[in-house]
Amino acid sequence: MSQRREQWASRLGFILAAAGSAIGLGAVWKLPYVAGTNGGGAFFFIFILLTLTLGASLMLAEFILGRHTNKDAIQSYKAIAPGTPWFLVGALGIVASFLLLSFYAVVGGWIVTYFFRSITGQLQAPDGDFGALFGQITANPWEVGIAHFVFILITIFVVRAGIRGGIERASKLLMPALFILFLVIVARSLTLDGAMEGVRFFLQPDFSEVTGETLLFALGQAFFALSLGVSIMVTYSSYVPKDTSLTRSAGSIIGLSLFIALLSGLAIFPAVFSLGMSPEEGPPLIFIVLPAVFNEMAFGGFFFTLFLALLLFATLTSAFSLLEILVAPFAKNDLNKRKRVTWISGLLVYIMGIPSALSFGILGDFTVFGNIFFDNMDFLVSNILLPLGALLIALFVPWKINKDVLEEELLRSSRLSRGFFLTWLFTIRFVTPAVIVIVFLYILGFLPG
Ligand code: PFF
Repeated sequence: MSQRREQWASRLGFILAAAGSAIGLGAVWKLPYVAGTNGGGAFFFIFILLTLTLGASLMLAEFILGRHTNKDAIQSYKAIAPGTPWFLVGALGIVASFLLLSFYAVVGGWIVTYFFRSITGQLQAPDGDFGALFGQITANPWEVGIAHFVFILITIFVVRAGIRGGIERASKLLMPALFILFLVIVARSLTLDGAMEGVRFFLQPDFSEVTGETLLFALGQAFFALSLGVSIMVTYSSYVPKDTSLTRSAGSIIGLSLFIALLSGLAIFPAVFSLGMSPEEGPPLIFIVLPAVFNEMAFGGFFFTLFLALLLFATLTSAFSLLEILVAPFAKNDLNKRKRVTWISGLLVYIMGIPSALSFGILGDFTVFGNIFFDNMDFLVSNILLPLGALLIALFVPWKINKDVLEEELLRSSRLSRGFFLTWLFTIRFVTPAVIVIVFLYILGFLPG
């Protein structure tokens, strides 16, 4: 009896940790602004399609590699292909995580500062213009610098101690709370005047607008929102008990992530159109639209503070996974070393993030390829490094691991048939690499279109 309970608890713990990594700013902050600048409905449709095919098959591949080898992002590749350069796939994931966390923490800092302003009643916008308020906040290097630092410090403290248990317990309560609050926002947003125009923008696909860039952004978003391509899921699944069903775990995580992405779009776009804003605001979008929506609500100030606290929690659980993957291979289970490595890598991440933080203020005129530093960093990580990592994992797992082992790991403890395995194998071996390569070639101009 007690044994059964223990196993169930660890399966839930794994799902919560993996879902905690997956669900964060990707669904809540990034999806609305990337959908907003890439045409809305068609983008969302393609994103869902890519999540269910490429995303799902890749998540399963990372899970199989992690659980089968029981090792971290670097060692797992070495275990399967010793003496070969394949471990560099893990190294690429570590570099990508470092760069990703550098700008992720900047947005985390925005949430921190909004939260403090919200509890102290300082989120008042001049003439209800929350765009101007955002500009004012991010133009102040001290405010964003300190908030950004606070976010990194919390991340360092938690990862340094490795207190997973507490986080898991808190997740069980706070994640559902975030979902419920989201439903409240969606209800308010959908009942604003002219909300339907926003729903159409977000859910009605207009494929005539689709370009190679739409595909690239949807691909990047699919991997970003599920934390794929950087071997984080390899590391997390290395702690999974042998009898946990990988397919069921992946199904829950993907379902939750898609559901929150849908809620997020339905919270933002109706309000954007109703309040006469532009969906093309870019990264600041939710920081401009959400305060305006809460402003239209009874007890809006209170609900917004609560929302920011829950979003901060969801963002932190993703940040923990990003810092953990940087620390784990260097700390090598030595607690003192772990503390030092966590501090050093956390501070380096902070320094790397400074130009991103300042690019909404004093570095706003410093552009490369016509984009500010933050946008270039986001583009490099989300649209190049994550798909590249995904491509390499899709080449490694199904071709380097024995087919019987793959089938056994994938189907164990599930009622799925061999047909499912063969479909997965075909997708990960051929469809996933082909789609990524085609989208890359298209963007580089090697394909007509
Ligand atoms: N999936 C996280 C989110 O959607 O906020 C971001 C992320 C975390 C991406 C970890 C990649 C990663 F490895």
